[in-house]
Amino acid sequence: MATNWNANSWRAAEAKHLPTYPDAAKLAAVEETLTRFPPLVFAGEARALKADLAEVAAGKGFLLQGGDCAESFAEFHPNNIRDTFRVLLQMAVVLTFAGKQPVVKVGRMAGQFAKPRSSPVEKIGDVELPSYLGDNINGIEFTSESRIPDPERMLRAYSQAAATLNLLRAFSTGGYANLRQVHQWTLDHIGKSPWAAKFSETADKIGEALDFMEACGVNPSTVPQLQGTTFYTSHEALLLQYEQAMTRQDSLTGQWYDTSAHMLWIGDRTRFEGSAHVEFLRGVGNPIGMKCGPSLTPDALLRMLDTLNPGREPGRMTLISRFGHDKVEAGLPALVRAVAREGHPVVWSCDPMHGNVIKADNGYKTRPFDRILSEVKGFFAVHRAEGTHAGGIHIEMTGQDVTECTGGAIAITQDSLADRYHTHCDPRLNAAQSIELAFLLADALNAERAERKAEAA
Ligand code: PEP
Ligand code: CO
Repeated sequence: MATNWNANSWRAAEAKHLPTYPDAAKLAAVEETLTRFPPLVFAGEARALKADLAEVAAGKGFLLQGGDCAESFAEFHPNNIRDTFRVLLQMAVVLTFAGKQPVVKVGRMAGQFAKPRSSPVEKIGDVELPSYLGDNINGIEFTSESRIPDPERMLRAYSQAAATLNLLRAFSTGGYANLRQVHQWTLDHIGKSPWAAKFSETADKIGEALDFMEACGVNPSTVPQLQGTTFYTSHEALLLQYEQAMTRQDSLTGQWYDTSAHMLWIGDRTRFEGSAHVEFLRGVGNPIGMKCGPSLTPDALLRMLDTLNPGREPGRMTLISRFGHDKVEAGLPALVRAVAREGHPVVWSCDPMHGNVIKADNGYKTRPFDRILSEVKGFFAVHRAEGTHAGGIHIEMTGQDVTECTGGAIAITQDSLADRYHTHCDPRLNAAQSIELAFLLADALNAERAERKAEAA
């Protein structure tokens, strides 16, 4: 267990991107209420995810992590949860089929509310207001009233996270995720995409494989893995008042766990030495992610790994690189080499979203799909050259037919961004773009597998 740590010790460290609540008594009351609420996840589940990620770190699996940039109270609807879940299932099927490796599925769901912002203020015309910080902190409406941090939003976020997680658990184990349903997961609106036909082909092949196995006596009643799946949740552990209130001591092991999600990550803006966010996360037993952007030096990364994972426990650390399409091949190798040289067991995952944001001519924040694909290709190329495992992907996506990122097979142009631009923060891949990305990843995983086979022969 971490030394000189308690759930409160982050308060003595330097905290960036935390709100200042005007009503301290109300904040204290909410924190007290949350500490008495049931945990959302159980410590044993966080350990199971860590074991799954340890396999990925050893080169025997792939991490698929995705969901909203920012979940919102307004978009809270069972159909949204179902559609994002089913696109993640579709992607996982494509990746499992191609890579012939287990895919660890983790949603940016059921708790991904708080956002670090590049500017503390937002200006429209002559009016300047505090920035929107996520629905668990303040409101997106551009009024001074709505931008005041309100602690009671944490209670609503908890309740939305609990209901979302409940539905995700039901879908995962209650029959929806049964591999026999693979054709039913296709969303109507991706029918226009050429990748829908390719998905249907994969689904046919899976159906044939299941028929064959059934004839051999293997079916969902004898092999429960075919009936459902394991799905985990994650979010950026940004709002530390909330995360602390959700932290509990596990009665089985005495270890502390942040029970707001299975996996928590530290953002690129809060991963500095002496950070309150690093201090908090070093003491909880969950699997931890850390974003690695262009400003991170190899030495600083190694110091972070020593702080967050001094015992070098496999599955504890996932490093999520987010360099940008034009910087990944120059910047990532030094980090990968340093980590390999020091023998830290990590999962390397690629976030091709946060380094590729541009402003369209009409003012919309967007991400060109070809730059996203190009960062993914660069990430695989670096790992191939370094002899390390390209272990995962971290994306902002939704099952909805939004128009937020330009490009893709059903080409979204800058002019069509205005049609269905719904995100509360960064632009997300829509369902068709997500499936298209899965097929590109599948090709890259296939190539990695072929290379390993050739080396072993
Ligand atoms: C995010 O994942 O939404 C995010 C803010 O990313 P980063 O910390 O990498 O900028
Ligand atoms: Co984002």
